[in-house]
Amino acid sequence: MKRKLIIAGNWKMNKTALEAEGLVKDLVSNIGSVQKTDVVICPPFTALETVGRLIDGTPIALGAQNMHWEEKGAFTGEISADMLKALGCRYVILGHSERRQYFGETDEGVNKKLRAALEAGLQPIVCVGETLKEREARVTEKVLSDQLKGVFRNFAVEELGDVILAYEPVWAIGTGRTASPQQAAQVHRFIRGILGDLFTPHWAQGLRIQYGGSVKPENIRNLLAEVNIDGALVGGASLDNGPFARIVAVAEEMSR
Ligand code: 13P
Repeated sequence: MKRKLIIAGNWKMNKTALEAEGLVKDLVSNIGSVQKTDVVICPPFTALETVGRLIDGTPIALGAQNMHWEEKGAFTGEISADMLKALGCRYVILGHSERRQYFGETDEGVNKKLRAALEAGLQPIVCVGETLKEREARVTEKVLSDQLKGVFRNFAVEELGDVILAYEPVWAIGTGRTASPQQAAQVHRFIRGILGDLFTPHWAQGLRIQYGGSVKPENIRNLLAEVNIDGALVGGASLDNGPFARIVAVAEEMSR
């Protein structure tokens, strides 16, 4: 099955709205005519409005890095799916390992966020991944299958729409240590298999699975050469126009 490649830039807690402006203007002039690849930029909440305005009318889409599962109410410091929609967000990253690691997010919470995001019409990018300790203890598959079962609990396949999955091995995030394309592809195949069992093999075949963890212009080609890798969730290399534009250009060239 042909799956459209998707490259997303997760800026994490980087760039003020003013700083975002310069970067996004450069990105629009470099990759604003991308056709075959889905490209998403996920700035911090405070730059969503600015970035959204600058990419309006281009094929580049806007995404957020997190949201709360409730629609509204007394949840100081939180942001709802509708608020993101109102700013023009089409995507939202859910369950990133940094949220799990530093802010106590659990599969149960991500499960609620997934439901809220889908109900609001946002396209979720659901993150899963194992730590170095877990990989060394050879429990990667168990950890991933628990995360997937937890996050997708009580969903029917019809409700899932165009969910995107991101496999981000925690040991490869911001460390410069990338999973080898073969290592990543093996896990992607495993994830597709688990989700095929949980839902339907047909749905799992159509599911796009991004790889994340030290993706750079130098390694993107070999990652995308793997049939089970359908794009990338890029951290550090999305903070500069040059590297991010090069990553997108390779995806565009390798589009399926
Ligand atoms: P790096 O590309 O900086 O390793 O970050 C990956 C990531 O966490 C993207 O969500």
